[in-house]
Amino acid sequence: MDLIEEELQEEQNKPRITAKGAMNPDKNFLDKFRPMFQRINEELSGSVGSHVFLIREVGRHALLGEGKRLRPLLFVLSGQLCGYGREDIYRLSTIFEYIHVASLIHDDVLDNAELRRKKPSVRNVWGNLTAVLGGDYLYSKAAGLAIESGKLEWIKLLNDTTRQMVEGQILELENTHNWELTRDSYMEIIISKTAVLMSAACASGAIVAQADRKAFDHLSQFGRNLGIAFQLLDDVLDYTSREEDFGKPVGKDLREGKITLPLIYTLQDLGAGERERLKELFKNKKAREEDHRALITKVRNNGVIERIKSEARQLLEANGRHLEPFPESAAKEHMLELNRYMVERQH
Ligand code: FPP
Ligand code: MG
Repeated sequence: MDLIEEELQEEQNKPRITAKGAMNPDKNFLDKFRPMFQRINEELSGSVGSHVFLIREVGRHALLGEGKRLRPLLFVLSGQLCGYGREDIYRLSTIFEYIHVASLIHDDVLDNAELRRKKPSVRNVWGNLTAVLGGDYLYSKAAGLAIESGKLEWIKLLNDTTRQMVEGQILELENTHNWELTRDSYMEIIISKTAVLMSAACASGAIVAQADRKAFDHLSQFGRNLGIAFQLLDDVLDYTSREEDFGKPVGKDLREGKITLPLIYTLQDLGAGERERLKELFKNKKAREEDHRALITKVRNNGVIERIKSEARQLLEANGRHLEPFPESAAKEHMLELNRYMVERQH
């Protein structure tokens, strides 16, 4: 951990009290899904299944341990919501963790990231070459499971999804250090790189359950909005969290030249002179530790964090309507709870 992170963490280490007086409101929220996570984890452990030792090691390292398993969970709940009752839902759900983890392994190569899910990243342990191939392997595991299902519609959806994720990553790459990035372009990036996978996880529940087009469309929209809120929060937490909660360093986006909504809003609120000064400093990599610290502190304290959270809250409040056409069930209740959780999560 460098100097900035130490100092920022000191500030963040103060206990956080929420409006209701409770600390870390999301801390135990996901516990209620423990039996489902256990089933998902059982399917994931030992599933890598290659005769190549290194692939099994990389797969185990990246797939097991920390990780919220939100995408497989959303798929399982969406399937149940549409009346799918077969136990193979858990095996099928691993498709979404495989794709997600493959994309994170590759993302860490792109970002030169040291840490992922509170552990050294795959590239940190085995190097970039193994990380690229390990990600490819997990991605092909996902494809294999979908192909086995024989559902062409599903294979097509997953293929469209991963293609859009790559497009999102390329757009993000092209816009590194683009201090003129607009909110619209930022939204396009986060929808492509993040929201489409949550959307596919939810919509796939309708596909396996052979539900109608209306159910598919509602679940697709529901998951897309969850994904947008998830990434908005991820980008907020990058400025406000603590490394031990977040599982990766704070202030990483600014350091990587990634322009996200907290910075976009902060820049909008500044005068043209100050905006140009910062742009020139950071874009030309002349920023010192104290410049990073000052800008992160400014982003944290100028009201943009609450503004983004409130936007995410509004999006999620309206999102509940996509579940209205479905009959009442435990799955529906859980999905509505997850919808609320997306913006309150602390990591
Ligand atoms: C993490 O976001 C990364 C993603 C959401 C998507 C990564 C997608 C790819 C690498 C392309 C698709 C690849 C495959 C194998 C399908 P972030 O960088 O905002 O979050 P971070 O702070 O956790 O790195
Ligand atoms: Mg990244």
